[in-house]
Amino acid sequence: MRTVINTACRVCAAALFVLAAARPGAAQPSTEPNSCATCHAALPDQRLSAPAKAFGASDVHREKGFMCVDCHGGNPTTADKVKSHDVAGRDSAMAFHGKPAGSEIVATCARCHSNAEIMRTFAPKQRVDQAAEYATSVHGKRLAAGDAKVATCATCHGAHGIRLVSDAKSPVFPTNVAGTCASCHANAEHMAGYKLADGGALPTTQLAD
Ligand code: HEC
Ligand code: HEC
Ligand code: HEC
Ligand code: HEC
Ligand code: HEC
Repeated sequence: MRTVINTACRVCAAALFVLAAARPGAAQPSTEPNSCATCHAALPDQRLSAPAKAFGASDVHREKGFMCVDCHGGNPTTADKVKSHDVAGRDSAMAFHGKPAGSEIVATCARCHSNAEIMRTFAPKQRVDQAAEYATSVHGKRLAAGDAKVATCATCHGAHGIRLVSDAKSPVFPTNVAGTCASCHANAEHMAGYKLADGGALPTTQLAD
């Protein structure tokens, strides 16, 4: 029930966010519905502003009414950074946990994508086995063993500005997927040190071949 209520609020909050984004010159109310996006979009450091800009442009999650807090936690109703980055989770539905890495990324995505109840609410036909499948892949097994150079959900799909896989601009759209894999697999430096079963170096010529 709590999820449903929260989501309803987020749908209107996201609509306001879109409105705010569409009128950059408009005065901002003091209690922002998504202070995360408002503050971040205006930060001079690219690393901190790019996520807000990409999320505000075209993102399947924003279009479903989700916000920054659905992945990062924190409190989106205050313009105070420390209160918003609510690490203790006192004023937030979910404690703030900053930038996820490695298996934290998989857990971030799996919180919804492995939850049949959540997914059914929004996309009844959506599969819920991506994290389970990932865990059985070479990427997933090596990640579990501590290798940070493998692909996670976010390397293949992005994290902000995620598109439907049927969207021609998605990095996993059929005509783009080879390039997405090649961003690592054709990079000899990134793949250095990995061996085939026979002991030879793992090739980096798959895309060219
Ligand atoms: C008033 C401005 C402001 C607000 C509001 C704000 N942030 Fe931030 N955020 C920053 C700044 C500045 C940094 C850089 C690190 C720091 O100074 O703490 C940052 C860092 C981050 C990072 C990167 C942390 C890392 O480990 O590199 C994430 C993720 C993030 N914020 C998400 C959010 C989310 C989600 C919200 C809303 C719940 C939010 N921020 C609200 C200003 C803000
Ligand atoms: C669908 C989940 C999701 C949503 C929604 C989301 N993020 Fe993120 N965010 C991530 C993940 C995953 C990473 C780590 C990405 C990576 O390592 O490539 C990340 C990283 C970041 C970083 C650090 C970037 C860096 O390169 O160091 C910032 C800042 C950030 N997010 C802010 C935001 C803000 C602001 C919003 C809302 C406008 C938002 N995020 C919405 C999942 C999300
Ligand atoms: C190595 C790249 C890669 C990784 C890692 C990856 N995906 Fe995908 N994902 C794809 C490709 C390619 C497709 C489209 C083709 C297909 O359905 O297999 C896809 C499809 C999807 C879809 C659409 C529905 C479906 O299953 O076809 C969702 C949702 C999704 N991925 C979520 C995730 C999540 C969550 C993770 C992490 C647990 C993840 N993906 C990890 C490449 C990846
Ligand atoms: C708060 C819940 C939630 C979180 C967290 C979340 N997603 Fe989603 N995601 C959804 C829902 C719901 C949809 C269905 C939207 C649709 O199909 O129209 C979706 C759609 C997608 C799609 C498009 C699937 C398709 O049918 O083409 C991809 C890809 C995707 N998510 C990847 C990710 C990745 C990667 C992460 C983690 C960085 C993530 N999601 C985190 C709820 C979530
Ligand atoms: C972020 C970088 C990255 C991306 C993107 C990536 N991979 Fe990988 N992949 C790796 C690393 C690192 C390994 C570990 C190599 C090993 O163990 O031999 C690996 C291992 C593999 C393996 C096992 C190789 C072997 O025989 O050991 C296959 C197959 C594979 N990846 C396919 C893909 C495909 C297909 C895609 C795109 C859909 C993809 N990868 C995207 C980094 C990546």
